[in-house]
Amino acid sequence: MTKKSGLRENHNRHVLEFSRRAGSYSEHNIIQKKVAQKLIGSITSRPRRILDLGCGSGAIHDLIDWEIESFTGIDKADQMCALHPRGEHITLLQADFEDLKLLKSLGHFDMVISSSALQWASNLPRLLDHIASMTDEVAFAIFCDGTFETIYRMTGMEQFLPKSTQLRKLLESKFACRCEIERYRLDFPNNISKFRYIKRSGVSGGERRLSVKETRRLIREYPHSYLEFEVLFCVGKTL
Ligand SMILES: C[S@@+](CC[C@H](N)C(=O)[O-])C[C@H]1O[C@@H](n2cnc3c(N)ncnc32)[C@H](O)[C@@H]1O
Repeated sequence: MTKKSGLRENHNRHVLEFSRRAGSYSEHNIIQKKVAQKLIGSITSRPRRILDLGCGSGAIHDLIDWEIESFTGIDKADQMCALHPRGEHITLLQADFEDLKLLKSLGHFDMVISSSALQWASNLPRLLDHIASMTDEVAFAIFCDGTFETIYRMTGMEQFLPKSTQLRKLLESKFACRCEIERYRLDFPNNISKFRYIKRSGVSGGERRLSVKETRRLIREYPHSYLEFEVLFCVGKTL
């Protein structure tokens, strides 16, 4: 699969095969990788000064296939920053991307990118306002409440991810943008591997919300061979 085509070359577009080779870091980030590929593939301008919020181990940096002048990545996790590529044009900041003072100090960018990270912002409207003041263009991929929807339905747990319809409205009120909502299904050989994936992938936010008894029931009774993911893609310009 080429970088640009993302999921499109997959004949069964949103159903991805779960690799049985257990244990590797990348395996547990299959969806985030696909998301980053699609996000980068949807950028048609060629921004030269880029800020990546929640840059992680460098998925976005590694996918950029045009010449750039500077790349600034912010991530609060030191283990992720440690895995990020280094280079003269790269500035890595181990920090909270909602630290507005820090953002103010960074100056102006051609594009602010964020892939699979903004769903954790504690005040997304405020952060988006600030982003709008510091860049010409934006490209975001944000996990939404259709993610793990069967689990939430079965357990009655409160979903912490944003509602895709509301998020779309919010983004369209702040940017001249194109929004697209994608649903993915990731197939697993059994229910235990699904819950292991949730734990290791980081998509769930890492908080433990279920009792052991409830987790056991889920593993026994979860009805599908797949987990669901919903991601909102937004690419556009500041107003
Ligand atoms: C699922 S990973 C995605 C990483 C990368 N963007 C990618 O596409 O592979 C989300 C990243 O966001 C970071 N993150 C979440 N909330 C953050 C915050 N408030 N400030 C800085 N980093 C944050 C996490 O540490 C994590 O590395």
